[in-house]
Amino acid sequence: PMPAEGAVPQSLDELRLAANACRACPIGALATQAVCGEGPPQPAHMLVGEQPGDHEDLAGRPFVGPAGQLLDQAMAHLGWPRDAVYLANAVKHFKYELRGKRRIHKTAAQREAEACAGWLAHEIALVRPRALVALGATAARALLGRPVAVQSERGTWLRERSDGLPVFVTLHPSALLRLPDDQRADAWARWLADLALARQRPE
Ligand code: SF4
Ligand code: URA
Repeated sequence: PMPAEGAVPQSLDELRLAANACRACPIGALATQAVCGEGPPQPAHMLVGEQPGDHEDLAGRPFVGPAGQLLDQAMAHLGWPRDAVYLANAVKHFKYELRGKRRIHKTAAQREAEACAGWLAHEIALVRPRALVALGATAARALLGRPVAVQSERGTWLRERSDGLPVFVTLHPSALLRLPDDQRADAWARWLADLALARQRPE
């Protein structure tokens, strides 16, 4: 198995194979498969989530479960075609805890996100997006290389990356799914406003 710091993949197919075989952190051995991103090359935007969930782990595709459906709804609402963006994750394997037969999602630890950072860097270099959108704190930290307080840094373009790619931070769709009913409508409207701004891209 190739560690994340190993040979540089020359294509997205190579990246998929290499990430799938990666055991640089303990998650890899437990998941069904690595889930790399999907979308067009050189897109205006790459959206980055946290890690595949149960559905993504089984399907081998990003954002196909409940969080992905909420993202689909938001993008449809904005008239932003899902296939216009490249959708990826900061961590490539699903982390979970078994409860009986159920696989309960567990947030990736910082050391796991760090172990996986090389794959995301390779993916960005191969896909060559013009801008990056971080969905949630794990993605924001992976893309900016520092801890990010999503609520205070959301909604603007941050220019800190050495490769010059601007990063826009907003909530992860799962954060909206976890909110109590009486907070959903406001949070949904703010999230849509964030995504509309992200879609416009910076000058
Ligand atoms: Fe490797 Fe990332 Fe999978 Fe960990 S989660 S084994 S670092 S590909
Ligand atoms: N949550 C994520 O962050 N990514 C997915 O692909 C699915 C759910």
